[in-house]
Amino acid sequence: MEILGIDVGGSGIKGAVVNVETGTLITEKHRIPTPQGAKPTDVANVIAQLVEHFNWKGKVGCGFPAIISHGVALSSGNIDKSWRGINVEDIFHQHTGLQFHVGNDADAAGLAEVTFGAGKGVEGLVLMITIGTGLGSGLFYNGSLVPNLELGTIPYKKYKCIEHWAADSARKRDELSYPEWGKRFNKFLKIVNALTSPDVIILGGGASKKMDRYKDQITIKTPVIPAQFQNNAGIVGAALIAK
Ligand code: BGC
Repeated sequence: MEILGIDVGGSGIKGAVVNVETGTLITEKHRIPTPQGAKPTDVANVIAQLVEHFNWKGKVGCGFPAIISHGVALSSGNIDKSWRGINVEDIFHQHTGLQFHVGNDADAAGLAEVTFGAGKGVEGLVLMITIGTGLGSGLFYNGSLVPNLELGTIPYKKYKCIEHWAADSARKRDELSYPEWGKRFNKFLKIVNALTSPDVIILGGGASKKMDRYKDQITIKTPVIPAQFQNNAGIVGAALIAK
């Protein structure tokens, strides 16, 4: 079965058609920059452009950077506040005429990894962390998702959310080297490790490709491994949500 997977991120909205039996992309990825401010109508218009790009008429799965409960966004970390309370599945349906299944973006990425990637067959607790504009988290117990865990929103020192200090966007903003940023990220890992006691932590998002540059800063005992799908986990997982 083929499903269009779309990953809505803080800087880009990416999609590809995914074979959900194998987890492979069967088209090239297409990326459109996230509109400034990421307001609902603007994002929905980009979603419609992606659907048009692929000339897609079937089901669509979408990873979205917020708490998603029964299709409704309940938070708005790095997107416009007006998303709160909006049924994301409905607004995307209205702009495309297609059936959408929407879930949290990190939950989606984790789903790809426990189904086909680095977390496949792992017994016990797998924690997926996505490193990007924010810090996303997805928790899986024996392959089953515990949805909407929001570890990036833990308060830390003067920061309302630790992701404002330890995400990849903070590395860029504060002009940190990878080892400097790695120390911050390790602090985040220590906190989430203490809170969830996972058997393995999988890192996804852009920075997971650069793990060699900060892996020496990681001091927790729990194995920390890069996502097998790297940056494509979000797209593959998004399609799996709609399976
Ligand atoms: C949001 C999460 C999301 C993460 C990664 C955070 O700001 O609170 O829901 O998973 O960013 O996009």
